Amino acid sequence: MNIEELTYPTEFSPEVKSATDELYKGISKIIPEVEWPFHAPLVHEINKLKKEKNIAILTHNYQTPEIFHCVSDIVGDSLKLAYEARDVEADTIIVCGVHFMAETAKILSPEKNVLIPDNRAGCSLSESITAADIRLLKQKYPGVPVVTYVNTSAEVKAETDVCCTSGNAKHVVESLGTDTVIFLPDEFLAQNIAAQTDVKIISWKGRCEVHERFTAAEIMSYKEQHKDIVVLAHPECSPDVVAVSDYTGSTAGMSNYVKDNQPERVIMVTECSMSDNVAIENPNVNFIRPCNLCAHMKRISLKKIYDAIRFNQFQIEVEDQIIDRARLAIDRMLEIGRK
Ligand code: 13P
Ligand code: SF4
Repeated sequence: MNIEELTYPTEFSPEVKSATDELYKGISKIIPEVEWPFHAPLVHEINKLKKEKNIAILTHNYQTPEIFHCVSDIVGDSLKLAYEARDVEADTIIVCGVHFMAETAKILSPEKNVLIPDNRAGCSLSESITAADIRLLKQKYPGVPVVTYVNTSAEVKAETDVCCTSGNAKHVVESLGTDTVIFLPDEFLAQNIAAQTDVKIISWKGRCEVHERFTAAEIMSYKEQHKDIVVLAHPECSPDVVAVSDYTGSTAGMSNYVKDNQPERVIMVTECSMSDNVAIENPNVNFIRPCNLCAHMKRISLKKIYDAIRFNQFQIEVEDQIIDRARLAIDRMLEIGRK
């Protein structure tokens, strides 16, 4: 590597300042003014290069505010990012999220160049199950349809009848019209869906390492301290946590709840950056933040996005025959839609 390849834009010049002032105003409640000169030169350069190279940046709700609000073209939950990856007009898609999200984008847009800024950004759910595991389950329960959470590898999706996300899991399970489904790999999501439906659910032992850390006792202690608090939980939390929550939904569902209901005080039982991003858009709502970090999501940074653009890295590659089979499962989910 030469010295140029190791350096990053750092000059907070008058040009950079005036080009990024509006963006900073949007996030000034969360990012202190002293920090902005470190972000602004990279934000400016990424936004310039993105236009020149016809790149679309698709960003998950768990990314930090300077990524989420300042360089992204499309933001959302896993389901929205899947729809947008299929439809977006760009030569290159950069996914600011974790590896399964970038793989989903590649499966839906195989002709596009799909990049992830750090290819070590994994997911404990995705790592909990392999394609061989699914094949064994299908042998054990012949004829029972397999519903797989999108937080899985392309190889696992290829063995699946239909995918789902936290935004449509119950709807997908019920749409199959069977009395039993195999639902993988999230044990807690499976239990939370089983509590809302008559369909019998055969589950797996995967867990989200971020959401499994929240406890009902912790949430109850916030409720005791703040009598007026509204608790919003992600369905990857345990059923005990869900039981003491006022609303359970995907990251988009939680964000829409705040936008539509404008509660006085809210607690989002999910990854840390969610509250930051939603707080920026809802200045009249008070946020209590018992957050847990997703170390995988946090591998993505402005510097790595800049490197992704200039070095065209890290390219997502999926074998054609896996794409063809995984695509069927994702397309079925997209046809079923969100509910
Ligand atoms: P959403 O689909 O709700 O955005 O969740 C993705 C995820 O990884 C949650 O941990
Ligand atoms: Fe995976 Fe949990 Fe991180 Fe989401 S928050 S990417 S489910 S480890």
